[in-house]
Amino acid sequence: MPIRLFRLSLRFVLPLALVLGLFAYAVVPLVDNMTLHWFMRDLDARSQSLANALQEPLQEYVPQHAEKKINQLFERSLRDERLYAMGFCDPSGKLLYKTVTYPPSLGCNVRLKEEKMAPLVVVPQGSLHVSESALENDGKYLGKLVLVHDMSFIEKRSADTKKYIIVLFAMMAVVISLITVVVAHLSWRDWMSSVKSILRGEIGPRPQQRPTPPEVRPLEGDLRVLLHELNIERRVRDDVTHLWTPEKLRTLLREELAGDEILVVSNREPYLHTRTRKGIEVQRPASGLVTAVEPVMRACSGTWIAHGSGSADRESVDRNDRVPVPPSNPSYTLRRVWLTKEEEQGYYYGFANEGLWPLCHIAHVRPVFRSSDWDQYVTVNQRFADAVIKEAHTDDPVVLVQDYHFALLPRMVRDVLPKATIITFWHIPWPNPESFGICPWREEILEGLLGSTILGFHTPFHCKNFMETVDRYLETRIESETSTISYGGKLTQVEPYPISIAWPEPNIIQPSVAECRASIREEHGMPLDQLLAVGVDRLDYTKGIVERFQAVERMLELHPHLVGKFTMIQIAAPTRSSLDEYQNFEARVRMLVQRINSRFSSGNYQPIILKAEHHDAQQVNRYYRAADVCMVTSLHDGMNLVAKEFIAARDDDRGVLVLSQFTGAARELHEALVVNPYHIEQSADALYRAITMPEIEQRERMRSMRALVKDFNIYRWAGRMLLDAARLRQRERITTKIRSHSRKSLRRVV
Ligand code: G6P
Repeated sequence: MPIRLFRLSLRFVLPLALVLGLFAYAVVPLVDNMTLHWFMRDLDARSQSLANALQEPLQEYVPQHAEKKINQLFERSLRDERLYAMGFCDPSGKLLYKTVTYPPSLGCNVRLKEEKMAPLVVVPQGSLHVSESALENDGKYLGKLVLVHDMSFIEKRSADTKKYIIVLFAMMAVVISLITVVVAHLSWRDWMSSVKSILRGEIGPRPQQRPTPPEVRPLEGDLRVLLHELNIERRVRDDVTHLWTPEKLRTLLREELAGDEILVVSNREPYLHTRTRKGIEVQRPASGLVTAVEPVMRACSGTWIAHGSGSADRESVDRNDRVPVPPSNPSYTLRRVWLTKEEEQGYYYGFANEGLWPLCHIAHVRPVFRSSDWDQYVTVNQRFADAVIKEAHTDDPVVLVQDYHFALLPRMVRDVLPKATIITFWHIPWPNPESFGICPWREEILEGLLGSTILGFHTPFHCKNFMETVDRYLETRIESETSTISYGGKLTQVEPYPISIAWPEPNIIQPSVAECRASIREEHGMPLDQLLAVGVDRLDYTKGIVERFQAVERMLELHPHLVGKFTMIQIAAPTRSSLDEYQNFEARVRMLVQRINSRFSSGNYQPIILKAEHHDAQQVNRYYRAADVCMVTSLHDGMNLVAKEFIAARDDDRGVLVLSQFTGAARELHEALVVNPYHIEQSADALYRAITMPEIEQRERMRSMRALVKDFNIYRWAGRMLLDAARLRQRERITTKIRSHSRKSLRRVV
C-alpha cells in the first residue's frame, strides 16, 4: 500500500515539479533584472546623499588645495563598506584626489549619462557602480566628485534571490503536490467505497457511511443499471451451460423448493371437456399461456386453478371440482372455478378483453371500460383468490398467477397468506404510462399487482413501462437499478422472463417433413411443388391477419408469375366471438380473403385458404412442417409462441420465419426476416424473399434459431422464475429466524 501510494504521489509530484521548474526557469531572469534595478536605484540615492554631505567640506578644502584634509575626508567616507573608492577631478578633467582603491582605468572619463541611473563599470575587480556629482561654489564650477560603489554585494544578493526563488518554487511544488495527493487520496477512498458499495448492490448509504460523493453520483445510476444487466446476463450465461429439461425443473423443485406446494391460477384451463355428438371430448385451447404453462405443470405437479368453461366440464370433476390431468397420463390436478354468465360477461369479455386487452396492445382498438364489468372483475378475482386460499395446504405456498385476468388477485391472496410467494406473469405487453392512464381503475390494478413477490414480463421494455406507470400513479419507492418496487412495506421484484415452448422430445414419433409437405398439399388439392406459407393465430385483431393478407396480395401483384404457384394457409382459431369487435374483425378478414381470392383464383386455385376453426397441436404441427414460410405479423404481441413453435417443428432446418418487429420474439429471433407489419410493401418483399430464399441460407438461419429456442425453452422460463422465488423465500426465512431469535434474546434479557 505505501509503495502504491508513493508511486501514486510520484505521478502527481513529478509533473507538477516539472511545470513549476519550467516556470521558475522563466521567472528567475526577470526577477534578477528587477532586483538589480532596485539595488542600482538604491545606490544612486546613497551616492547622491553622500555627495550632498561632502559638498560643504569640499567647497572649503578644494579651493585651499587641502590635500590632507580631503584625503582624510575620503578615508572617513570609505568606512561605509559599500563605498569602494572616491576621487575628485578638477574642471580640466584631471584626477586631483583619490583613494588608493580608485581604479586607475577609471580616471575622470566617467561621463554622466542622460539616464538618471549611474553607469556600471566593469573593472578587473568586478562590477562597480560609478556616480558623479558636480561641485560648485557661488556658481563657480570647482570640479566633480566621483563615487565608486562596490557592486559585488548586489551580485551576491541577486544570486541569493535566485536561490530563494528556486527553493521557494521547489517547496511550493512539494507542498502543492502533497496537498493534491492527500486530497486525491481522500476523494479516491470515498469514491472507491461508494463504487464498492454500489457494486455490492447496497441501496443508499448505510448508517454511518458517508453519502455518495457528488462526483460519483452521476455514475451511480449507470453503475447500478450496468450491474443489474450484468447479473441478468450472468444468470442467463450460467443457465446456458445447462439444458433445461422437465427433469431439471423437477430437481430444482425438489432441491430448492423442497415440499413447497405449487398453485397456478389462470383464466383459461389447460383441458376443456366438451360435449359433442360423439360424446365428451377433451380439447386443448389455442392459448399461448396454456402452451407455455402446461409442460411446467406436468413437470412439477401441483394444482392448476382455472375457469371451467367447457360444456361438459361440470360432469368431469369430483366433489371438490377437481380433475386429474392430462387425461391420458395424469400428473397434476385441475381445479375448476365456475362463473355465471353475467360474471363471465363482465369479468372476461368485458373488463379483461374489451378493457385491458386493447389497453395493453397498441393495435388501435379503443378500450371500453364499464363500471359493471369492473364489479364483476373484482368479484371473480376474489372468487379465484378464495379458491387459491382454499387449495393451499400450507401458509406459504408458491402461487403462479397468470395474466391480465387476475391483476387484483395477488393482493387478495397476500392479505390472507402474507407468507405466500406470489409470482405473477403478465403474458401480454405492458403499455406506456400515458396509455395505461386511460384505465379508470389504474391505481387499483397497480396495487393489486404489487401484492406479488415477483412480477414477470416478457421483455425488459415491458418491465420498464410498468415501473414508469407505477412511478406515475402510485406513491412507492422504486429502485430501478435493482428493479424493485416497495409498496406498503412489501417488495415486488419486477423482472423479464421471456416465455418459450417445450422443445420436442427427440424420441417423439411424428410424420416426416416430406410426408407433411405431401399430405397437406394433397388435402388442399395442390401440386407437390406448390409454395406454401402458413399463419397460425387466434382470430384476433392484434395478430395482423389483415395486414398479412394484404402483403400476400401485394406480392402477387409485384410477382404475377407466382399466381397459381403460391398459397397462404391461415389457421385462425375462433376466439372471444361474442364480442362485437371480434365478430367485426372476423367479417373483415373473411371479406378480404374473398376479395383477394376473387382477384387471383383460377380453377381450383385460391391464393389464401382460411381455416377459421380449432386445430389441435398435432394438426398445427403438420402445417408447420409442410410450409416453406411461417408468417407472424402481430401488430403488438407479448412474445408470440407460434414463431417458436414453427422453429421447433423444423427439424429439417428448412423454412423461413417472417416475424413482426412488434413481438417479444423479434428481440430473440434475429435470424427471422423481421418486418413492420404496417408497411405492406415491406412485408410483401419479405414474403417474396422468404419463398425464394436459397436452401443454404434457410438452413443457416433455422439452425441458429433452433439452437436458441432449444436452450431458452419453457423449463428455463419457469426454472428461472422458481429459482428467483426460492432465493427470496430463503432470504425471507432467514430474516424471520433472525427476527424471532433476537426477540427471544431480548425477552431473556428483560
Ligand atoms: C393470450 C393471453 C392468454 C389467453 C390467450 C387466449 O395469449 O395472454 O391469457 O389465454 O390469449 O385467449 P382466450 O381469451 O381464448 O383465453
